[in-house]
Amino acid sequence: MISKVKSVTLNGLDAYLVDIEVSFTTGYPGFTIVGLPDTVIQESRERIKTALKHVYNEIPVKKITVNLAPADLRKEGSYLDLPVAIGILEAAEIIRKVSENMAFIGELGLDGQIRGVSGAISLALGAKKLGIESLVLSVENAHECAIVPEVKTYSFSNLNQVIEVFRGDVSIDNFLTKRELEEEIETNFDIDYSDVKGQERAKRAITISAVGRHNILLMGPPGSGKSMLMKRFPTILPHLDDEESIVVTQIYSLIGEMKNRKSLIRKRPFRSPHHSISLAGLTGGGSPPKPGEMSLAHRGILFLDEILEFRKDLIESLRQPLEDGKITISRASSSLTFPAQFLLAACSNPCKCGYFKDRFNPCTCTLSDIKKYRSKLSGPIRDRFDIMLEVPRLSNEELLGMKPGKTSEEMKNEILKAKKFQLARTKGVVKNNSELSPKEIKKYIILDDKAKKLLATAIDNHHFSARAYDKILKLSRTIADLDEEEIVKPQHIAEAISLRNIKWDPYD
Ligand SMILES: Nc1ncnc2c1ncn2[C@@H]1O[C@H](COP(=O)(O)OP(=O)(O)OP(=O)(O)O)[C@@H](O)[C@H]1O
Ligand SMILES: [Mg+2]
Repeated sequence: MISKVKSVTLNGLDAYLVDIEVSFTTGYPGFTIVGLPDTVIQESRERIKTALKHVYNEIPVKKITVNLAPADLRKEGSYLDLPVAIGILEAAEIIRKVSENMAFIGELGLDGQIRGVSGAISLALGAKKLGIESLVLSVENAHECAIVPEVKTYSFSNLNQVIEVFRGDVSIDNFLTKRELEEEIETNFDIDYSDVKGQERAKRAITISAVGRHNILLMGPPGSGKSMLMKRFPTILPHLDDEESIVVTQIYSLIGEMKNRKSLIRKRPFRSPHHSISLAGLTGGGSPPKPGEMSLAHRGILFLDEILEFRKDLIESLRQPLEDGKITISRASSSLTFPAQFLLAACSNPCKCGYFKDRFNPCTCTLSDIKKYRSKLSGPIRDRFDIMLEVPRLSNEELLGMKPGKTSEEMKNEILKAKKFQLARTKGVVKNNSELSPKEIKKYIILDDKAKKLLATAIDNHHFSARAYDKILKLSRTIADLDEEEIVKPQHIAEAISLRNIKWDPYD
C-alpha cells in the first residue's frame, strides 16, 4: 500500500509543495527516508518512530520507505515529522485517506506532541498559492496561520487527536481555528525626544530621514548625544502599511516570534546589533536558514552605533542590501534571498580620540590617523548615506540652560503629515523619496528657477558628484514634503546641502 500526503516547506520566505509518499512492503523491517533529506530529516526519523510507538502501538512491523518529492528541493527544518507520520498511518490503513487539498506541517515530540514550526505564516501564504485549502498543524502555529484568511487551519496539540479525527471517530470541525485577528496594541515608550536638549538640527535631520527613509550618519565627539538621538528613532516612526506588515511578520515568524500571536506586526522594526555581532548574525544564515539583523530590520531601521568599530567585512556586507533591498545567502548547493530594505542609521566619533573639531577638548590624533580611522567606511558605503551630519557637543551650562525641545509626538505628527502629502502628491506611487529611480527623480522632483540656480552654484562650489547631486535632489524633495510644497524651493535645496556637512577627508 502506498499513501500520498502533502506538506509545504520554505526556502527563505517562499513556500514549496512537498509530496510525501510512503510505501509499506513486506521484507526486512526498516524505515528509510529518501529524496535528498538533510540531516535534520534523518533525525526526524527517530522522532517519528518513537512518537508513533508512543501513541499507537499497533503499527505493523514492515519495511517502510518514505519518499520526499521533489527530490531536488532542499528540505530543512522539522516541518515534515507530522506529514510523514500521517503518511505511515495511512499506508498502514490505520487512518482513512486524507484529502489531496490538505497539507500537514509540524514537528513531533517523542510522546506524540505536535510542536509549532517557524515561518508558519509564510507556509500558510504559500499554501494558498499552491492550491492547498486547509492546513493541519500545531496549536502553537494556529493563530499565526489564521491571519491568512483563504486557508482553513486545523490545529492539534497531539498526534493522538489527529489519529482520532482521520479514523473518523471525531469531527475535524472541533479543531478548526477561529480567526481572531487582533490589532497590535499601541506601544508606549519610556523615552522621548524631549529628553534631548538642544540638538534641534540633528532632530530635524532625523525627522527628514524618517519621512524619506534617507540613510543617516551622525558624527560627533563622545557625549554629544548621538546614541541618545538615534535610540529615540522608534518613537517617531509611522506604522507599517498592510503590505509591509505581512512581509515583516513573515520574517519574524522565521525566528519563532509569531508563535501564539494573533496580530500582524505593525510596529516598524528597530534593530541595533552590537559591533561584536558575527557576519551570519548580521546577514542571516544557518540551517535551517534564519534571517539576520539586516532582514529583521526590513522596512524599519538598522542602527549601527559606533559604526567604525564594526569589522570591515561586516560593513562591506551592507553593500548589496543597501543597493538591492535584499540579501542573498550563498549556500553549498543553493542560494537563498531574504528581504532587507532597511534605513541605515549610524553614529561615529570623528576620530580615534573622539575630539576632532570638538569645541572643548583638544584632539590628539594626526590627520593621517584620522584618515586611517575613517577608511573603514569605504566610498561605496559612504555614498549610501543621504544625510551625514556633524553633531557638536554642548557644554554643561548649555545643557542646563536649555528648555526641552520638540517632543516625539510633535515630530511624529510632522512626519505623518509629510508622508500623507507625499503619497497624495505622487498618487500613491512613491512611498519613499530615497527610493526614487533616476527617471522618477525627473518626474517627481520639480525645482523652481531660483532653486535650480542655487543648485547649479552649489555644484560649482562644492564639486558634487552625480550621486551627491541626486541625493541633494531627493533630500530637498523630502524637505519640501515637510513644507507641503509641490515645487522644490531654494530653501529646500539649501537645507538639503546643509545635511551633508561632513568633510570626510580631514585634509580637505
Ligand atoms: N543634548 C542632550 N540632552 C540631554 N542629555 C544629553 C545631551 N547630550 C548628551 N547628553 C547626556 O550625555 C549622555 C551621553 O550621550 P550619548 O551616549 O548619546 O553620547 P554619544 O554622542 O553617543 O557619545 P559616544 O560617542 O561616547 O557614544 C546621555 O546619556 C545624556 O545623559
Ligand atoms: Mg554613543
